[in-house]
Amino acid sequence: MNGPLIKMVGSSKRLGGRSVLNHLDLAVEAGEVVGIIGANGSGKTTLLRLLAGLLYADSGEIQVNQRRVAPGVIGYMPAEIGVLIESPSFRTQFSGLQNLLFLAGIRRVIGRSDITRQMAHFGLDPNNRQAVRKYSLGMRQRLGLTQATMESPRVLLLDEPTNSLDQAGVQVLAKTLETIAARGVAIVLVSHIMDDINAWCDRVFRLEGGTLTVVRSQRPRQWRVVLRRWDDIPRVNDLFLSWQVVGQAAEGPAFLGTGPWTEAAELMEALKGRAVEAVAIERA
Ligand SMILES: Nc1ncnc2c1ncn2[C@@H]1O[C@H](COP(=O)(O)OP(=O)(O)OP(=O)(O)O)[C@@H](O)[C@H]1O
Ligand SMILES: [Mg+2]
Repeated sequence: MNGPLIKMVGSSKRLGGRSVLNHLDLAVEAGEVVGIIGANGSGKTTLLRLLAGLLYADSGEIQVNQRRVAPGVIGYMPAEIGVLIESPSFRTQFSGLQNLLFLAGIRRVIGRSDITRQMAHFGLDPNNRQAVRKYSLGMRQRLGLTQATMESPRVLLLDEPTNSLDQAGVQVLAKTLETIAARGVAIVLVSHIMDDINAWCDRVFRLEGGTLTVVRSQRPRQWRVVLRRWDDIPRVNDLFLSWQVVGQAAEGPAFLGTGPWTEAAELMEALKGRAVEAVAIERA
């Protein structure tokens, strides 16, 4: 199938008497991970709610999986979509597995073994009979991530997915996003933690004043660069998102740096612009 899996064109939404989203445009292709950052109250969760069909826009057009999301008989509650929005709500008197079995019963596309496998993937014991009420915050978040991903959706919407996760949980999530994006899932990730977003997203936007502005339009790549002179090192400092000297090559200092360039020639130009001479540039 061609064309974006998520498309918002001129979407506006007013809430509580004020404009939250204002003629907002967004398109996300299969296999893309798009990050959205923004201050508290800027409308990030509202944007995800519109995509999930949990709220409807006042105007504009929204398509998910290439079908219109709109109220009424011609409308469409998006299926094949995984959603984790704010604190996941479960029936807290039941166990994690019971909750997921109940939710899986709505669409009936997966069975018990799919659920237990995905729970284990996110570090939860499917045999844990504890009521969700007694789960720690991190366990609830892991359960929410399991629920959002267990039916192998084509579109995945995650609101602050690293909330309450420990380091191991964050690592599992990072790996999971990479794997499912490679399978062609379109992912929108909302966070106010720039580091998560930077590491995981192909493109990043900032939501401000009801619209999105581009923060970064390409995934940073890692480059190995050998310079002619050590003296030039300070001048490359702020050119890269991150960089690290890795040693002394025959010709001069070698370092690894990440940045938005797709071709070595582009990076060469950027270095020349700072009167820095590179002896070798290659993708690391
Ligand atoms: N049900 C509602 N009724 C009235 N106003 C609402 C409602 N839901 C959200 N809002 C308002 O819409 C604005 C955007 O809220 P939203 O939850 O989308 O922000 P956010 O970017 O997700 O913030 P945070 O970073 O705190 O999660 C806020 O000003 C909020 O007060
Ligand atoms: Mg929010």
